[in-house]
Amino acid sequence: MRTYLVTGGAGFIGSNYIHYMFRKYGDSIRIINVDALTYAGNLENLKDVESQDNYTFIRADIRDREAIERIFAENDIDRVVHFAAESHVDRSIRNPEIFVETNVLGTLVMLNAAKKAWELPDGTYKEDKRFLYVSTDEVYGSLEEGDTYFYETTPFAPHSPYSASKASGDMLTKAYWDTYRFPINITSCSNNYGPYQFPEKLIPLIINNALQGKKLPVYGDGKNVRDWLYVDDHAKAIDMVQEKGRLGERYNIGGHNEKQNIEIINIILETLQDMLSEDDPRKALVSKDLITYVEDRKGHDRRYAIAPDKIKEEIGWYPETMFKEGIRLTIQWFFEHEDWMKNVTNGDYQKYYEEMYQTK
Ligand code: NAD
Ligand code: TYD
Repeated sequence: MRTYLVTGGAGFIGSNYIHYMFRKYGDSIRIINVDALTYAGNLENLKDVESQDNYTFIRADIRDREAIERIFAENDIDRVVHFAAESHVDRSIRNPEIFVETNVLGTLVMLNAAKKAWELPDGTYKEDKRFLYVSTDEVYGSLEEGDTYFYETTPFAPHSPYSASKASGDMLTKAYWDTYRFPINITSCSNNYGPYQFPEKLIPLIINNALQGKKLPVYGDGKNVRDWLYVDDHAKAIDMVQEKGRLGERYNIGGHNEKQNIEIINIILETLQDMLSEDDPRKALVSKDLITYVEDRKGHDRRYAIAPDKIKEEIGWYPETMFKEGIRLTIQWFFEHEDWMKNVTNGDYQKYYEEMYQTK
């Protein structure tokens, strides 16, 4: 039975990936989820799999070398999927240190522990082992007027402390291939959306605020562009890269779905109006009057967009979920999980939210 070590599995993309993998492979795989449970990690995301024999949760910090080495020593790991990270640009602007600690040093701990466990005396590796680093399109910087897309060959030019830290982890991972022929892949994906996303990110924040009649903060002129990818499509891409990708290669994963932030907000408001029934009291709260332009994010990247040509040609993956469909699925999920939202927007999050938006 193949064993996966998933880091950051209690977060947004990690928990969707774990659900996807169990849906696809059932009990023919085993997953060990290693997560420190920061503010972004939530075991409620995995309630429905926690009693399965082929699922194990281990609370550990990826910066803790001993704990991570112990996990490798006690388990014959075949695949590492490394999601764990500090993931929010706004938080990185306020507190960059933890981003370097987790995203750079934590990644180094993961690479070293896997290398130590998998390396044979002759410097080659045990058969069929793979380490995948989940990177981001933000490592490529920002597209400006006249630019086309990010490609795998686009030079790195990260701007935020978040993207700089992700770029460092990304380059370290690549260095382990270049230097040691350690079996890696890197995937750089665009903005994800879907169930279980923490409401500090644009889409869940807008859904949550709109349903409560709270202001919808738009940074700057609202015309920054992101390329939105439904999270299940991302999970599928990661699995396909691990199964079919060429070792040492990077694959960009994008939704082919570029939209300005203000367009996203308008689509969410229209979809909410459409989906809420006439007798739902929240219907009267959802309104375009809530849109509030606020001070721009520092160093705000203008546009991200990926041409996922390489992954399509080499591996056969393409984004399947149209935004119109994905956003309905996401909103439906939030309708059905009001308690989840209440639980994650607890005291700590309220404090962050008030501090974050009082200066905007
Ligand atoms: P998330 O913030 O929702 O989840 C991160 C998870 O990592 C949490 O469960 C958290 O508890 C865990 N974690 C954080 N620090 C840890 C540590 N030191 N040790 C162990 N666990 C730790 O993030 P996400 O949105 O699910 O993103 C997952 C990965 O995908 C990240 O590497 C991120 O950079 C990358 N990514 C995300 C997006 C996106 O749109 N969300 C886009 C591109 C790339
Ligand atoms: P975000 O979800 O934080 O993802 P990222 O910064 O990694 O792309 O933000 C998406 C876009 O939405 C980005 O251009 C910033 C903007 N934004 C707002 O306008 N208002 C908000 O309250 C948030 C959180 C983001």
